[in-house]
Amino acid sequence: MKLFSYISERERSIITDLYTAIGAFVLSKVTHFILKYTILNPIPTWEYPMKRNDQFKVLQKALNDGKLPKIFRPKLAPGSTFSDLFVIADYDVMKEAFFKRAVASRQHSENIKIAISTMLARMDYHKIPRSILDKDDQLLKNGPGEIAGTADGPYDDFHKKSRVQWHDTIKRLVGKNRISEIIKESSEKIVACLERVGSSAAGIDPRRVFMNASLNVTSGFAFNKTYDFEDPQFEEIAEIIESYFAGITSMALLQMSWNILPRWICRSDFYNRLWEKTSYRKDIDAQNPRNYLETILIDAEQEPRWGYFTVAATIAAIFLAASDTLSVTMTWLVLVLADNPEVQKKMLEEISAAREIDADLKKENCPFIRSVLLESQRLNPVADTLPHITTDDVQLKDCFIPKGSQLFASLTAIMHDPKNFVEPGKFIPDRFIKNGEFVNNPKVCAFSVGLRDCIGKTLAQDEYFAFATTIVENFKINRIAGNMEVDNADNLRLPKENIRLQFVRRQ
Ligand code: HEM
Repeated sequence: MKLFSYISERERSIITDLYTAIGAFVLSKVTHFILKYTILNPIPTWEYPMKRNDQFKVLQKALNDGKLPKIFRPKLAPGSTFSDLFVIADYDVMKEAFFKRAVASRQHSENIKIAISTMLARMDYHKIPRSILDKDDQLLKNGPGEIAGTADGPYDDFHKKSRVQWHDTIKRLVGKNRISEIIKESSEKIVACLERVGSSAAGIDPRRVFMNASLNVTSGFAFNKTYDFEDPQFEEIAEIIESYFAGITSMALLQMSWNILPRWICRSDFYNRLWEKTSYRKDIDAQNPRNYLETILIDAEQEPRWGYFTVAATIAAIFLAASDTLSVTMTWLVLVLADNPEVQKKMLEEISAAREIDADLKKENCPFIRSVLLESQRLNPVADTLPHITTDDVQLKDCFIPKGSQLFASLTAIMHDPKNFVEPGKFIPDRFIKNGEFVNNPKVCAFSVGLRDCIGKTLAQDEYFAFATTIVENFKINRIAGNMEVDNADNLRLPKENIRLQFVRRQ
């Protein structure tokens, strides 16, 4: 009896201790949770519809009332207060955040690595490079790699190196005038195409023409190969990209789903062609790569992180990132120009005057055009940022962002904030002209800022300028149908599909 009571007392004490420990653990977790999401981190939630037009209306109202928080948790579902998603809506906070190393990574965790490798196996992806590359090819020896391209992965030495290689390739090709040749060739194709299909009284939606022009530049840069706009293979790439962007819906503020990108990546038609290009390996001059793919392949000889999947995903990422963004930017521009014929006229006069100075049109001789182009990008910012994952706890001004959070910036909110721009909803073509000179305003940040900003910014700006001036010089743009209304799509800020523009050839 004594023994029994001793044991049971002991057991009771163990049970009590256990309960106390569990209670203390739960209490500490709850306290930590409450502190983390409320007292230590009082970041408000804010309505943030996924649909672009609805979202814009909410942002616009809050900005006009001066009520939009500089940083908020998007109210996506009940309990959003406890999510690790944050949206930055203020330029200074964005700048402070995006220059920090701890805010410069994309999603990258063991789980994602496993998800990628499982998916590649499921899709039998490996057989594509294996069937095309020599079996002793270094790229095969490197294996698939862990990173889904330049737009993915941590901000580490490998990512920084890939950015440097990108900029080196641009510099090398610019030095040889190759980029300007490719852009010029694409501009000429735009003229031929608009003349053929865009001059009818019914007008056209010119998105696909601009998409093809942009894809052509990307392809020239990545592989040294340009296409005819009507080339069926080329058409197919454009269609794949359009369906990619349609499929990306709802992802913007949710976890990036790796299932979408690789499905596209595994389309063997595109990748077979990519790998075929690597079979010209013997022609590659290590000292003198002719395009971005060659630059990567040369590096892959001694950099095992360039796996064949990482190479493919990097090339895919630039095709994706370069196409719709630029084509939609161009479409907004021609729409706004159609409604402002006097701006077209002034641009045309500036082009003629600039050609007097230099037959090759130079940006520095076109301050008004630069202002118009920047203003159109500000008025209709096509994209917000990709997710930035915090790899450490981060203190931003007076708010604390825990490690593992996802930060986005609403470039739209920043560019439509009356604190940054007077009458932000209005198209003011000479907004960036002071004393006859073009004065850049960094708050027009369509390419984002910081360590993970758009890698294609310079290339995109060159294309934007060349395509815009070529069109204005060759055509008068009229609006036949549609208007500047924003489509209620989930991803990019798109014009509605009913727009019809007529491009009348100038004599
Ligand atoms: C008007 C055209 C374009 C716009 C508005 C645009 C905008 C953006 C934005 C907002 C980001 C996200 C930055 C962030 O998360 O902070 C981005 C990333 C990126 N863009 Fe662009 N972009 C354009 C054209 C291009 C072009 C032409 C290319 C390549 C040829 C390109 C390649 C990329 C890549 C690779 C990234 C990911 C960078 C990284 O994660 O390090 N973009 N772009």
